[in-house]
Amino acid sequence: MSITVKDKTFDVFINQKELAEAVNRIGKEINEDYAKKNPLLVVILNGAFMFASDLMKTLTINCAITFLKLSSYAGTQSTGKIRKLIGLNENIQDKDVIIIEDIIDTGFTINDTIESIQQYKPSSVRVASLLFKKEALQKPAQIDYVGFTIPNDFVVGYGLDYDGLGRNLPAIYKLIN
Ligand code: IMP
Ligand code: MG
Repeated sequence: MSITVKDKTFDVFINQKELAEAVNRIGKEINEDYAKKNPLLVVILNGAFMFASDLMKTLTINCAITFLKLSSYAGTQSTGKIRKLIGLNENIQDKDVIIIEDIIDTGFTINDTIESIQQYKPSSVRVASLLFKKEALQKPAQIDYVGFTIPNDFVVGYGLDYDGLGRNLPAIYKLIN
């Protein structure tokens, strides 16, 4: 069934059951990999909030959570956009950090995020991303846990937005061209 978000039409792409299965699988992997650890989930806002919430409920290990927001602004350098992480602090030091992302597209965001987090000297850093647009990747990216590798289509739902809308959808929808 297709839906409209703002001025565009989308079709169901990954349903709720498939999402729940992927989240449970990642949770199981994390429970095993971090069996003797107390990881800190670092959630990249806004898109990853729903994935993080469902994922955390599948974790049986002791774990903590914190949230980071990326702010993009025009930089003075010729490289153009510079992303700054808001909410980062020394609480990350000596922690086993698991970055929770909604989607890895070009790979620039996750690379910037990892670089910023490393400044605070965590014990370890891993990345869990619900979606991965493999064909869109422009910069090699660390991804330790992935829900779905998807084609280079624009998607909304389950936290992901189109112009701020669509995050409430319980499934993932893709743009119909
Ligand atoms: P990257 O730096 O290109 O990897 O950008 C990743 C970010 O772009 C994600 O955290 C999303 O906020 C956004 N993004 C990339 N692809 C999509 C999409 O298909 N739908 C919604 N947001 C997307
Ligand atoms: Mg995001």
